[in-house]
Amino acid sequence: MEKKPTAHVRPLTLADAGDVLAAFRSASDMSRQGDVTDEISAASYLAWACGKDSNTTSFAIEVDGRVAGCVGISVDAVNLVGWVWYWMHADYRSRGLTSRATTTVANWALTDGGLERLELGHRANNPASGRVALAAGFTWEGVERGKFLIDGERIDVRTYGRLKLDPPPTSETLDVETASWPSLIGQHREEP
Ligand SMILES: CC(C)(COP(=O)(O)OP(=O)(O)OC[C@H]1O[C@@H](n2cnc3c(N)ncnc32)[C@H](O)[C@@H]1OP(=O)(O)O)[C@@H](O)C(=O)NCCC(=O)NCCS
Repeated sequence: MEKKPTAHVRPLTLADAGDVLAAFRSASDMSRQGDVTDEISAASYLAWACGKDSNTTSFAIEVDGRVAGCVGISVDAVNLVGWVWYWMHADYRSRGLTSRATTTVANWALTDGGLERLELGHRANNPASGRVALAAGFTWEGVERGKFLIDGERIDVRTYGRLKLDPPPTSETLDVETASWPSLIGQHREEP
């Protein structure tokens, strides 16, 4: 009998460069997620994604020991707000993994993670991203008309938010060990 793949969420680390590079090479639409084309740029991306030189904390979506995807939160510690983003290696898409991982991370971020509002936006011509947002309990809040200029065309961005007080989604989650995850506010508080 074929073994079912196991997926879980854990913090992304600087050691994940090989898998991150493979994901960025897997599909042309990954180019808007960051400038990752080789091992050096993958290491720079991870320094940012892992909060070494940023206010961002990221989580790997690990499938059978490999980083297939990622959910990140860029934190505004003054307003207790997080900007959420995600991506998935092309080979692992349409399995519900990003939806389940984003639900898992958002549920944690609005409880033990210490945030009170999460927000995200996606290009209107990227409906799969909107499906992930809705699955993870976000509410559609509006449209930023003509926000991006891509290949000569102005593209709308659809924006979403989820508040701590919103009812949590009933969507499936992934396995996590959140007990060891430090609060997002503690990680990204700016010292006066
Ligand atoms: C957007 C992205 C993260 C989705 O990852 P994924 O692992 O395929 O997501 P899931 O499988 O959890 O869910 C995808 C949903 O989109 C739906 N979907 C996929 N392609 C679609 C399309 N062309 N039109 C409408 N819905 C679509 C799927 O049916 C699914 O919805 P459902 O569960 O309600 O049926 C992935 O396509 C990706 O990495 N894209 C490039 C990076 C990116 O755009 N990131 C988001 C930036 S805002």
